[in-house]
Amino acid sequence: MKITIVGTGYVGLVTGACFSEMGNTVYCIDIDDGKVEDLKNGKIPIFEPGLEELVSKNIESGNLFFSTELSIGLNNSNICFIAVGTPMGEDGSADMQYVLEAAREIGQLISHDLIVVNKSTVPVGTADMVKEVIKSEMAVRSVEFKVEVVSNPEFLKEGAAVSDFMRPDRVVIGSDDEDVIETMKELYSPFTINHERFITMDVRSAEMTKYASNAMLATRISFMNEMANICERVGADVNFVREGIGSDRRIGYSFLYPGCGYGGSCFPKDVKALIKTAQDNGYESTILKGVESVNEKQKFSIVTKIIKRFGEDLQGKTFALWGLAFKPETDDMREAASVVIIKSLIELGAKIKSYDPKAMDAAKEYYFADNPNISFYNNKYDVVEDVDALILVTEWKEFRSPDFDKIKEMIGKRIIFDGRNQYNKNILEKMGFEYYQIGNYG
Ligand code: UDX
Repeated sequence: MKITIVGTGYVGLVTGACFSEMGNTVYCIDIDDGKVEDLKNGKIPIFEPGLEELVSKNIESGNLFFSTELSIGLNNSNICFIAVGTPMGEDGSADMQYVLEAAREIGQLISHDLIVVNKSTVPVGTADMVKEVIKSEMAVRSVEFKVEVVSNPEFLKEGAAVSDFMRPDRVVIGSDDEDVIETMKELYSPFTINHERFITMDVRSAEMTKYASNAMLATRISFMNEMANICERVGADVNFVREGIGSDRRIGYSFLYPGCGYGGSCFPKDVKALIKTAQDNGYESTILKGVESVNEKQKFSIVTKIIKRFGEDLQGKTFALWGLAFKPETDDMREAASVVIIKSLIELGAKIKSYDPKAMDAAKEYYFADNPNISFYNNKYDVVEDVDALILVTEWKEFRSPDFDKIKEMIGKRIIFDGRNQYNKNILEKMGFEYYQIGNYG
């Protein structure tokens, strides 16, 4: 098939690369000409495992094109995905300006019947709105083509986006047009050998599914963080509790890991947007507000432990920090717990020596430009030298089994604050470390 994708952000790029890999011809369109030039040369703006190879390979085989001209894509395709950003607006709702701009442009350029697919995470009712915008632009030009707007939410995890796209748990397609559903099924059939993975429904339910899905996952995390906070106060260990409850098949093990709170581009934004959507429709979401407020507080949990151990005045103290990205396998710093932790510690007078395998450039550029109180190192051991404590914030694989003998010799005080419960308390204590986790030992 021939496909246009508007927006070469994380979702658009992964979608385009994966469709082209299956032999489709894909035109990826973006307004940023610098980015488009880089992409034409196979240079991608984000770190995502497997993506750069996939993009380069399909550019070479002539399946994948990049352009700033939407008309080039539209003239050559009968399916157009909208995969532009929906950042958080000031009132917590999703900012729809890029989606609506894409719809306007499609309406101004459309020259034949078209299936428009909303891949961006958009509030319920957006597909109808996009259809209206396209129709009114067509009316201005006195042309009329059949336009169906489908909701096809993405469920990709950063760091595993290519494999999630290639082997999806499910493909949700929201449309009430049988022919459109058939075309979408054909498009996705190489990824879903098992056809039960197609879930078709009306457009609004598909739009809602995306929010409900992320809200559910965020709820599990905040729930576990709350359990961790209670465990700390009653002398229980949340690691055991997690195993104890996860073994119930109705609950399951995934997304039960307590930590420094969830971050990233999706959960914080989508939970807020759903709260706002509910409010706009006359409903106050007690649960989601709780999920959000637990998460905001959780980002401070390590700071609270540090204050308890060192006092409120951290002048003269230096901390090593492992992991800046909001989670492993990404260079994404959006809503990362590390930002809250670092800023709080610096405010209390501390200095930070930090290391992350991929996110240091983003951290320097967007969060800590010219901040003399934080320094960046190219090696996880160099940051540990002479510090008052080591803080683990992001559980990259290279932090899982570090050389504690080496750390013991290099570190100033043998203290570790573990924000992701990665290490064994008994082993570390035997080695002479003071060791703090989330959800136990106070
Ligand atoms: C999420 C959804 O998983 C994905 O389906 C959706 O399309 C986009 O949002 P992503 O933001 O890439 O994906 O990250 P995810 O792996 O879900 O983790 C989100 C956050 O939750 C991270 O900060 C992570 O550290 C945290 N988390 C996750 C926990 O604190 N505990 C857990 O048990 C799982």
